[in-house]
Amino acid sequence: MEMSPRPAAASAEWWRQAVVYQIYPRSFADSDGDGLGDLRGIVSRVPYLAALGIDAVWLSPFYPSALADGGYDVDDYRDVDPRLGTLADFDELTSALHGYGIRVIVDIVPNHTSNRHAWFLEALAAPKGSRARDRYVFRDGRGPARAEPPSDWPAAFGGPAWTRVGDGQWYLHLFAAEQPDLNWANREVRDDFLATLRFWADRGVDGFRVDVAHGLAKNLAEPLEPLPVKRHPADWPVPHGTHPLWDRDEVHDIYAEWRQVFNEYDPPRIGVAEAWVHPSRRPRYASASGLGQAFNFDLLEANWKAGEFLRIITDDLADAQRHGASTTWVLSNHDVVRHASRYALPARDDRDSLTNAKAWLLGNGTAPELDRGRGLRRARAATLLMLALPGSAYLYQGEELGLHEVTDIPAERIQDPAYLRSGGADKGRDGCRVPLPWATDGPSFGFGAGAAHLPQPAWFGPLSVEAQEHDHASTLTLYRQALGWRRTLQGAESLEWMPGTNGQVLDFRRPGGWRSVTNFGSRPVPLPHGTVIVTSGPLEEGLLPADTTAWVIPAS
Ligand code: GLC
Repeated sequence: MEMSPRPAAASAEWWRQAVVYQIYPRSFADSDGDGLGDLRGIVSRVPYLAALGIDAVWLSPFYPSALADGGYDVDDYRDVDPRLGTLADFDELTSALHGYGIRVIVDIVPNHTSNRHAWFLEALAAPKGSRARDRYVFRDGRGPARAEPPSDWPAAFGGPAWTRVGDGQWYLHLFAAEQPDLNWANREVRDDFLATLRFWADRGVDGFRVDVAHGLAKNLAEPLEPLPVKRHPADWPVPHGTHPLWDRDEVHDIYAEWRQVFNEYDPPRIGVAEAWVHPSRRPRYASASGLGQAFNFDLLEANWKAGEFLRIITDDLADAQRHGASTTWVLSNHDVVRHASRYALPARDDRDSLTNAKAWLLGNGTAPELDRGRGLRRARAATLLMLALPGSAYLYQGEELGLHEVTDIPAERIQDPAYLRSGGADKGRDGCRVPLPWATDGPSFGFGAGAAHLPQPAWFGPLSVEAQEHDHASTLTLYRQALGWRRTLQGAESLEWMPGTNGQVLDFRRPGGWRSVTNFGSRPVPLPHGTVIVTSGPLEEGLLPADTTAWVIPAS
């Protein structure tokens, strides 16, 4: 297995076609047996990451946090949660990863702090109208005695987006009450985040994943605007740039300032925006004068249908090319049902795969029958297709083991605020955050020396790294092979659809001539003549079966 620094690592444009592996640190590897993953745990697994063949890791938040939202409630942006380690551990991790040519991306959470952040404690203690309160969004309530929230805006995790404090004012939180929104019209807030970016960039961090990047600029003019109604997931409710809370044009002034900081470094640091916006608006976040890259969640939402994949790939590549950006692809992350399980659900014509999976987790009826075998087969085929595409690909820890969502976490163990705030109606996101199985047995399948902070199911054992490492047919082997070939074959950011492409089959050629063919249909199909280098599942008498992808180097 090749472990030397990757050639692309030398380039300032390393990110354009990078494979980035997302680590959810509290669930990756536990070095001290307290049940919680930590930075030294990640250090111990750096050789695993190198052998996997990724170009970068993105670390979800490891900052001090009460974990009201899995660490996305940050107490201090320039420190490490003591349960996860120290800044010295962070430096060691960065240098261990860099030693293998693996870049480091950290998560910046600028829309809100936690309610334990020094600024918020100061705001609570300070009077109405004070400078300390102006860093957040405090307002008087409506109605008699000002006892009604200032507006009817809902919080993402349920309930109103406003919480009342001791002196009767209300503060805004678009997520949990423990996540007060910052006021990005405030210069001090802006400058403080520039200092945070420099703090991590000076420590050698290569890039930043920007949480809720489309939410920072808000229209807070009085009277507060009611929210426009969204009728269908594909509809944007108002003319672009005019929603009171999301994707306002002014947000890009903030990222222009961040870009200046990024460009102080050599190579320039990069940002990747988590912006759930209309696809036509994505390039603004991904521009060279902005963050540089934005997540593209289109494949993650798509159903397993050739036509949907074809349209998304064609449109997104055209968009990226028009704007000089490189596109990103994502099938799973820490917020969504794992793709092996999404594809195991019976499809619904009126829903995209993500909406379908979320409805399943609402648990408000009889659970549909899962076809786990089919789900994994399709997940492997989708991943192999994704890894053949130009642009960069984001992988989420555990998908390389073919993990399914864990859906039977006992109620008293669920941590996600989405569950707690929905009164238990929504099972939330813990199911994709269960600690990884490294070994076939042991107290937490090799995650650590003690029980894991979220319970692991018995079926994790046979899916452990230990069980898959030397199995030629395993999902882990597939990821390693695919990433190895991807690096060898990597060329310009383009693809050409081949005549074999139709309503059942996607067949495209990459520069250098190699082909990726995916069969979305139900009958086996022939492959181009040549050498089959990787397949997501076994071929049938030389034919590509249903729900399978193959990479082929055609005979010349
Ligand atoms: C992002 C994160 C998610 C978090 C939310 C609030 O969507 O990915 O995990 O709950 O922001 O910070």
